[in-house]
Amino acid sequence: MKQKIEQLNQQLDGKTPQEVLAFFLAEYKGKIALSSSLGLEDQLLTDLVVKIDKETRIFTLDTGRLFPETYSLIDKTNMKYNIQLEVFFPKSEAVEAMVKAEGVNLFYAGIDQRKQCCNVRKMEPLKRAFNGLEVWICGLRREQSITRKEMQLVEWDENNQLIKLNPLINFSEQEVWDYIKANNVPYNKLHDKGFPSIGCQPCTRAIEAGEDVRAGRWWWENPEHKECGLHRK
Ligand code: ADX
Ligand code: SF4
Repeated sequence: MKQKIEQLNQQLDGKTPQEVLAFFLAEYKGKIALSSSLGLEDQLLTDLVVKIDKETRIFTLDTGRLFPETYSLIDKTNMKYNIQLEVFFPKSEAVEAMVKAEGVNLFYAGIDQRKQCCNVRKMEPLKRAFNGLEVWICGLRREQSITRKEMQLVEWDENNQLIKLNPLINFSEQEVWDYIKANNVPYNKLHDKGFPSIGCQPCTRAIEAGEDVRAGRWWWENPEHKECGLHRK
């Protein structure tokens, strides 16, 4: 598989996100899905994916702790593109047991508790969302943080035994905004209020000028810990 990934990276080097997606959506039809957090990058990818092949699965993980603005955007996106995002929820028994043992806001107590919450609310539902897939599409960009600098356009996701495609890996934040504005793509209103990166409401704050774009995510932790398990190596 390593060889195949390397070959795909070479073959697609220098191609635009549109070209990369057109290739993958044709090659893996029915076995590929976009994983969307409704963030700015994912909205751009939704626009591209829908324009290339409307049948493509797009799913989101509703942790139960998202911002009201994010829920509004789910509706708005569905209406604009005449699609229906698949929404995956955590198992209610698992959430109840966790909250009973650790409290409703356990994530502030330490990294272990935070990872436990992400496991229950994101990782387990993600496993179900992956059913039948060979490729998952993500909105990761190298520029986003120190944990993402080494990421490639096409990667082998060993943990999930899937190909992971990052079509925007080389995009700058400016390039993302330019596409969003030029194509009238709906986006989360929190982006206009100092939130460049949006996750769950209790784990995301606005950033100050000059701060890293992901500084507002799990802001009480050190930067090198700030991955929730979705993108661990
Ligand atoms: S996170 O790991 O810190 O939450 P981030 O918000 O930067 O990740 O998003 C990176 C990519 O992970 C997104 O482009 C998307 O592909 C995927 N992702 C993150 N959160 C979700 C979610 N709630 N539902 C579906 N995909 C998600
Ligand atoms: Fe829980 Fe926060 Fe992770 Fe959301 S980001 S699943 S609230 S720890």
